[in-house]
Amino acid sequence: MATLVTGGAGYIGSHTTVALHDAGREVVVLDDFSNASRRVIDAIRSLTGSDLVVVEGDAGDPGVLEPVFARYRIDSVVHFAARKSVSESVADPLGYYRANLGSVIALAAAVVDRGVGRVVFSSSAAVYGATSTLPVTEDSPTAPESPYGATKLMGERILADAAAASQMTAVMLRYFNPVGAHPSGLIGEDPSGEPSNLVPRIMQVASGRRDRLEVFGGDYSTVDGTAVRDYVHVMDLAEGHVSALEADLTPESSRIYNLGTGAGTTVLQMLAEVSDVVGVPIAYEVAPRRPGDPAASWADCTRAHHELGWQARRSLKEMLADHWNLTRPHPEPTDSSPPHPPST
Ligand code: WQD
Repeated sequence: MATLVTGGAGYIGSHTTVALHDAGREVVVLDDFSNASRRVIDAIRSLTGSDLVVVEGDAGDPGVLEPVFARYRIDSVVHFAARKSVSESVADPLGYYRANLGSVIALAAAVVDRGVGRVVFSSSAAVYGATSTLPVTEDSPTAPESPYGATKLMGERILADAAAASQMTAVMLRYFNPVGAHPSGLIGEDPSGEPSNLVPRIMQVASGRRDRLEVFGGDYSTVDGTAVRDYVHVMDLAEGHVSALEADLTPESSRIYNLGTGAGTTVLQMLAEVSDVVGVPIAYEVAPRRPGDPAASWADCTRAHHELGWQARRSLKEMLADHWNLTRPHPEPTDSSPPHPPST
């Protein structure tokens, strides 16, 4: 039996594929490579020493899904394949609703049809409102600020309704701020794209590709005036998916879990940590607040700990060291040195 991982060549998907393999599962990856490099597949194969099965196609296309379910003995699905840029979703809301909800509906239909037992859904802390009380629990009010966040909340609802009316169990994982990479440096978030997230941008300053970091807002009511987030190692997140597939959730038909560390870090604290890990000072300037940013957000992960037996284990320093290992300038490969594939 195999686990189907849609979006398995993406950032969190590729790490989860490796974690599932390490946990002894067969994996079938479905990816359309619209926002991922094919070299990621080679990297996963070399990390796992396996002949990973990969199907190229759109997870929202029933004509793609049908032969996958017919050919492979799929007993569970982890669904990542989605568009994931908050700013792009504001500019193209209908594109986001079509892509992200179309794939959830098509996949849920295939899963129910085939009697697949469990679906794990890649959701986000973006489903919460900006004014949640802290720490954020799974019962905190949802009020997504962007079409992207709305597609995640609606995706959860679609899967929960489908699960209630069928044999499948749906597990929604709401990630906080994923950071880091596989310690090998072979997979990680694509360092070639123009990043908008904090840590990739700080790394650009550290490697000399950006002059200084703009700190968005220095007047929040937090310990140092800068915004607080819950950064979690992507390897911990990947392991959370394995736990979500394996946990006994009876009698629930669906369940929601926050995945974070439970600890908050400010932008200035992050700058200091990176400077420590990389060994160079990070230049910055305080800029106006970024519209839509909450002052602070960190997770209560008690439910995932109690019910999934999952807890983030890796420190901020490990996240940053692994991220730096992926993105630091590498010497040009020669004929005798192995390539260093960028990946998403
Ligand atoms: C973190 C903090 C910025 C860049 C986003 C999505 C969310 C989730 C994770 C998918 C904020 C500050 C940033 C910079 C800065 N993705 N910052 N200078 O906004 O918390 O979450 O990614 O599910 O949905 O919204 O992450 O890394 O962009 O920002 O000062 O150059 O760093 O203002 O306070 P965010 P982020």
